[in-house]
Amino acid sequence: MAGNAGRGLAELRKRPSIAASILAADFARMGEECQAALGGGADLLHLDVMDGHFVPNLTMGPAMCEALRKRFPKVCLDIHMMVSDPAMFVRPFAEAGASHFSFHIEAVDDPAAVARSVRDAGMTAGLAINPPTAVESILPHIGDFDLILIMSVNPGFAGQKFIPSALNKAQAVKGLLRPDQRLEVDGGVNRANSRQCIDAGFDILVAASAIFGAADYKTAIAQLRQGP
Ligand code: DX5
Ligand code: ZN
Repeated sequence: MAGNAGRGLAELRKRPSIAASILAADFARMGEECQAALGGGADLLHLDVMDGHFVPNLTMGPAMCEALRKRFPKVCLDIHMMVSDPAMFVRPFAEAGASHFSFHIEAVDDPAAVARSVRDAGMTAGLAINPPTAVESILPHIGDFDLILIMSVNPGFAGQKFIPSALNKAQAVKGLLRPDQRLEVDGGVNRANSRQCIDAGFDILVAASAIFGAADYKTAIAQLRQGP
């Protein structure tokens, strides 16, 4: 089933929203892990899709999205496509119940065309940018997207160190956003840097290790929201 009624980006009222990235969850207990993160205050689930080509790792595909949609009918499922051909997977993820679909500027020639196909399929569209890519490359495209995703690690793996240049990119982008557009940071976000992220303009914080590596998810999520 495609469509976002009651479970899209627009329903995320909290600022900042906390996205639990399931890449650092225990895959053998995925349902329970997501339940614990959501019960502990996470606002949405972030699914990292990697193809072994755009990034040097393989993770998950539409089947994971479909399984989580069945278990969590009303939760926003935020798909982060780290793949060389995101357009190929728009329809499979829409049919798997995804709410939101972000893809990388580095992977596509015509971001607006892919964004249109994402929306036509019933999802919101996000544009992601890697640390080495200049922020100027996304500025002309911002108006075509519901969300801008600024990577604060080189994508591929959870548990890496935060790259602070993401904060400068946020400063460059935030004044250009409409009130309905969201600004997401992903990679190395933890209790020590979450306040800096919020102050820089990010309103969705993605975290894998800082949540699923913590002894108590609720405390970890509250600390991400509040900062040090
Ligand atoms: C990195 C992924 C991130 C990752 C975050 O390639 O896009 O979503 O899971 O992991 P942490 O929060 O551990 O840096
Ligand atoms: Zn991600």
